[in-house]
Amino acid sequence: MVYEATATAPVNIACIKYWGKRDTKLILPTNSSLSVTLDQDHLRSTTTSRADESFEKGDRLWLNGKEEVVKPDGRLGVCIKELRNWRSVEEEKDSSLPKLSQWPLRIASYNNFPTAAGLASSASGLAALVASLARLYQLPQNASQLSLIARQGSGSACRSLFGGFVAWREGEKSDGSDSLAEEIEPQSHWPEMHAIICVVSDAKKGTSSTSGMQRTVETSTLLKERLKIVPERMKLISKAIKDKNFEEFAKITMKDSNSFHSVCLDTFPPIFYLNDVSKSIISVIEELNKSNGKIIAAYTFDAGPNAVIYSLKENIPKVLGAINKFFPTSEESKDPFKLTPVDLPENFDYKVVREGGWEKGSVKTLIHTRVGDGPRTLGKEDSLLNEKGEPK
Ligand code: DP6
Repeated sequence: MVYEATATAPVNIACIKYWGKRDTKLILPTNSSLSVTLDQDHLRSTTTSRADESFEKGDRLWLNGKEEVVKPDGRLGVCIKELRNWRSVEEEKDSSLPKLSQWPLRIASYNNFPTAAGLASSASGLAALVASLARLYQLPQNASQLSLIARQGSGSACRSLFGGFVAWREGEKSDGSDSLAEEIEPQSHWPEMHAIICVVSDAKKGTSSTSGMQRTVETSTLLKERLKIVPERMKLISKAIKDKNFEEFAKITMKDSNSFHSVCLDTFPPIFYLNDVSKSIISVIEELNKSNGKIIAAYTFDAGPNAVIYSLKENIPKVLGAINKFFPTSEESKDPFKLTPVDLPENFDYKVVREGGWEKGSVKTLIHTRVGDGPRTLGKEDSLLNEKGEPK
């Protein structure tokens, strides 16, 4: 009997950004946040976990084929420990259960997109780890409860345990038991919500989110102003999603991205995640909206220069037209929907972009995706581990 489980988990991109911790050990945030889960058919982390009595002592884990050290007090170690403790409670309740909690683990994880490109790989990776272990240990699959554990691996990971539109409630308790993720609306509520990811650079980023946000908490006075406005934004964007009011959703998303990057600039020493290409994408989207007479696209940026542009499916051809016009890509774009870009409106003011546009490859490639579902369980045939419990 092989005790093993394989799960996949999605990437999520926040519209209201998490930036700042009030407790760095438990990973409790200074504000609530809200994200859209992206489709796992296009971007995902897959994780296989196996428990075996005969494995040499100690847990081992591989990320994209490379072995990582699992420190017991590190973030991965804490997630594994929490799930193991939960399993042992279940084993105590039911003595017929095999004692998986006492056996060493072998875990392999694989991302189908570049790690640390600012594409939230830690979120999908940690969520897939938690989902696969929860399955292996046959824990009750309550996503909000699991989110409490994923949160301790990486804050934004707690939101990847749900599909659709997801809020991470900051909570009030000092033990973190109410700092969890919950679904605002499922994927099926607004499936027309699509996203274009502009991969500006897939190099490893300069300042990690973890150290960057800590420096912001310690040095930025503007963060205090930001924290006053977020609760209202959470309410407004939740309503916009419920009402499927794209213009309102887009306005709040863009404002919150701008607010997050402002507090980064207000950090001392300052943090720059946006580069000139990122800023030029902002100008193009602003002008695209203006020349269309309404907001049809929303940009947002995480801790890196890549843009994520949210737009309804019907308007994606316009977004693709605008991006292709000024940012010729160097690698073939991924568009599973095969939509044909349309030309810019006649009144589009070309002066918003530097003359001649950007050189080829300033935006490397585009990934077209949409709102997606939460973690999925896969079968034995999808296992990432070989017989010996090493990556295939
Ligand atoms: C800008 O979740 O990566 O993407 O909790 O320290 O692991 P840690 O940080 P992380 O931060 C994500 C920050 C963000 C905004 C967001 O996803 O809400």
